[in-house]
Amino acid sequence: MNSSVFSFFSDFVFLLLLFIQIPSSLSNDDLFTACKKEFVCGNISAGFPFWGPGRPSACGNPELELKCENNITTMKSNQVAYRVLEIQHEFKILRIAREDYLAGLCPPQFANSTFNRKVFEPVEGNRNFTFIYGCEDAPTTIPRPISFNCKIKDVDGQSGYIKEGENGPGKLCTGSVFVPVSITDFPPDWNMSSLEEQLKKGFEVRWKFDNECWKCSTSSGVCGFDNVANQSTCYSPGMHSPPEISL
Ligand SMILES: *[C@@H]1O[C@H](CO)[C@@H](O)[C@H](O)[C@H]1NC(C)=O
Ligand SMILES: *[C@@H]1O[C@H](CO)[C@@H](O)[C@H](O)[C@H]1NC(C)=O
Ligand SMILES: *[C@@H]1O[C@H](CO)[C@@H](O)[C@H](O)[C@H]1NC(C)=O
Ligand SMILES: *[C@@H]1O[C@H](CO)[C@@H](O)[C@H](O)[C@H]1NC(C)=O
Ligand SMILES: *[C@@H]1O[C@H](CO)[C@@H](O)[C@H](O)[C@H]1NC(C)=O
Ligand SMILES: *[C@@H]1O[C@H](CO)[C@@H](O)[C@H](O)[C@H]1NC(C)=O
Repeated sequence: MNSSVFSFFSDFVFLLLLFIQIPSSLSNDDLFTACKKEFVCGNISAGFPFWGPGRPSACGNPELELKCENNITTMKSNQVAYRVLEIQHEFKILRIAREDYLAGLCPPQFANSTFNRKVFEPVEGNRNFTFIYGCEDAPTTIPRPISFNCKIKDVDGQSGYIKEGENGPGKLCTGSVFVPVSITDFPPDWNMSSLEEQLKKGFEVRWKFDNECWKCSTSSGVCGFDNVANQSTCYSPGMHSPPEISL
């Protein structure tokens, strides 16, 4: 056989073998090591149930992917982009702010800040607001309506207003966005600019406590997520690992 053909053939077989190796290469032991590492970005660090750069998807809930850019941590929930400002692991609390509202009220990403109840649970300490857009006229009958103007789809001067609570746009307006706001430092006599400041400080959400994971940590394992079974799992240190120092 011609040697270059042979070399091509053996390279091909080698590549094929490499390819076949990939799925089985992440053993329980490797996942234990990988998922022990924390996600770190700027001054945010996170372990289970989060994943992202530095933590493979097998280390966290599929809905809790973190991204890092220029030391800024972001995540998406129900298609809405959030900046992660703080993670309190002991209380399972995330403080997040909507990326679109960091730049002002107009125009937002038209989606409500609602959260998957299977992953998150409600917290006390937020106040709900609805920003209503594209109104023919801001109704005057609502108590304390605060109105503003936005350019939406190149149409200037579209009026909008703010209403407390979780509301829809009503008949006179075209869209609405529901956003919680943290009540910490919230001025009692709020106005447009204080509300815009408060949106930048974000609000809190709490992720659900995972009993399986608690059992796992107490048995010196590391929690992860089995994407096939679609549930959290436990990676234990293998026989070749050095003895575990409990965290
Ligand atoms: C993280 O850093 C940002 C700016 O770099 C700062 O505003 C924020 O207070 C810091 N957060 C914590 C929890 O230290
Ligand atoms: C991120 O923060 C680190 C440490 O605070 C700093 O050394 C680095 O330059 C920052 N990177 C960017 C892109 O801002
Ligand atoms: C705000 O909305 C959330 C989600 O719908 C709800 O659980 C919470 O009770 C509301 N908070 C207030 C103060 O109405
Ligand atoms: C937000 O929720 C309200 C109902 O609470 C709904 O009427 C409105 O259309 C929703 N907005 C978007 C952008 O989905
Ligand atoms: C808005 O409220 C804040 C805090 O209550 C206050 O400092 C500020 O002067 C107010 N701005 C306007 C334009 O009324
Ligand atoms: C995984 O389970 C969650 C609820 O725990 C469910 O909402 C989601 O659709 C499931 N995903 C898949 C791929 O089955």
